[in-house]
Amino acid sequence: MSQQTFPAGFLWGGALAANQAEGGYREGGKGLTTVDMIPHGAARMAVKLGLEKRLTLRDDEYYPSHQAIDFYHRYKEDIALMAEMGFKVFRTSIAWSRLYPQGDEQEPNAQGVAFYRSLFEECKKYGIEPLVTLCHFDVPMHLVVEYGSWRSRKMVDFFTRYARACFEAFDGLVKYWLTFNEINILLHSPFSGAGLVFEEGENREQVKYQAAHHELVASALATRIAHQVNPANQVGCMLAGGNFYPWSCKPEDVWAALEKDRENLFFIDVQARGAYPSYAARLFREKGVVIHMESEDAGILKNSVDFVSFSYYASRCASAEMNEQNSSAANVVKSLTNPHLKRSDWGWGIDPLGLRITMNMMYDRYQKPLFLVENGLGAQDKVEADGSINDDYRISYLREHIQAMAQAIDDGVPVIGYTTWGCIDLVAASTGEMSKRYGLVYVDRDDLGRGTLARTRKKSFWWYKKVIASNGRDLS
Ligand code: BG6
Repeated sequence: MSQQTFPAGFLWGGALAANQAEGGYREGGKGLTTVDMIPHGAARMAVKLGLEKRLTLRDDEYYPSHQAIDFYHRYKEDIALMAEMGFKVFRTSIAWSRLYPQGDEQEPNAQGVAFYRSLFEECKKYGIEPLVTLCHFDVPMHLVVEYGSWRSRKMVDFFTRYARACFEAFDGLVKYWLTFNEINILLHSPFSGAGLVFEEGENREQVKYQAAHHELVASALATRIAHQVNPANQVGCMLAGGNFYPWSCKPEDVWAALEKDRENLFFIDVQARGAYPSYAARLFREKGVVIHMESEDAGILKNSVDFVSFSYYASRCASAEMNEQNSSAANVVKSLTNPHLKRSDWGWGIDPLGLRITMNMMYDRYQKPLFLVENGLGAQDKVEADGSINDDYRISYLREHIQAMAQAIDDGVPVIGYTTWGCIDLVAASTGEMSKRYGLVYVDRDDLGRGTLARTRKKSFWWYKKVIASNGRDLS
């Protein structure tokens, strides 16, 4: 353990997202959203990536988000469990289509507002600070069908209207906001990331980067509005993080890793520094991309974020010879398989030191406080005959990553807090499985939606409670 303990007031907690936990997909006036169209099974990847157009639901497929873990009805029970662990912060997202079922209405849906008020009040009742993502992998389907989602500049207005409604409706309840979850995932999983579906023969890079520009402008405007509504609001960007290592010290491999890092950091460079990075012009030229910008955009982008949040599951690895055949995706970003790392049940590398490296790089680059808002181990859990779940592998993973975060703090990196992903089991974003479990709390539900939905505390529940009570000093 490093010398530096976690600062007083460090925000320990857990994270989930509306699209993977709430269910209630047509309740309370909610409209259909992108994730509602992504089935379990063989077609899932093609739909997620925007390669197969799915604008309507089918009768012969199972859609895990429709009921998910029924957080929509069980949030009081679930928040009580988080409070029992001593959570200081709870990260969730607002389903855009609960507030704006179509996305282009003028006024928010009162039932949606009431639901989230009640949820945030429930957190506050226990002294838990909500950390709220405005857009976590769900765009109202009407905006996809009518406007082509983030291809259209009109999305900037729809999103900022929605963001303002949230800042006003939940003022005094929510102080920490994130605009777009893992904004760089738009490049790697365009439909789930940003509601993009491609047409035959079009330059996909052009579509993706123009959509990215619209999101970046919308994010900067939302940041400005949040500060106008309440100067105490703190707004963050959110990166699917994890540095690329060069496969070897061959200069070409080192360059490949740098380019791969830039592909993802491009978004955060804009959101945290307030302008397009210098390398963007060559990148766009090589990809045949021409970004259409309005005259006011450069000024809008100057509204940079207050803090930089990120997810970290694993580091990545790149070489000059990397291609589709020799790489595979962990958290949808393609990587070579690093032979020096252990791997999870789903083949994701396990690299706690990579977290320290990533955090140091990000602070060196942005000089803004960091918030680690997703980290955890997706694993198969076994329910023993006595009902207990002894997830020592998850405890080890979390312990090693918390130690690495402590070392980064010792390195001088300011960190606001830590929210472990899927603090209660939920639907996996990549595979749609329930059996890929991250939780400290087990949910009785399987990959095809069978089960009682009953909640059970895992061994990691008691361990994390101790970690929080000791402010990270007791990791045993
Ligand atoms: C991040 C997302 O990509 O990683 C989450 O923000 C997601 O929504 C998490 O669930 C873990 O990925 P997966 O595919 O294991 O659920």
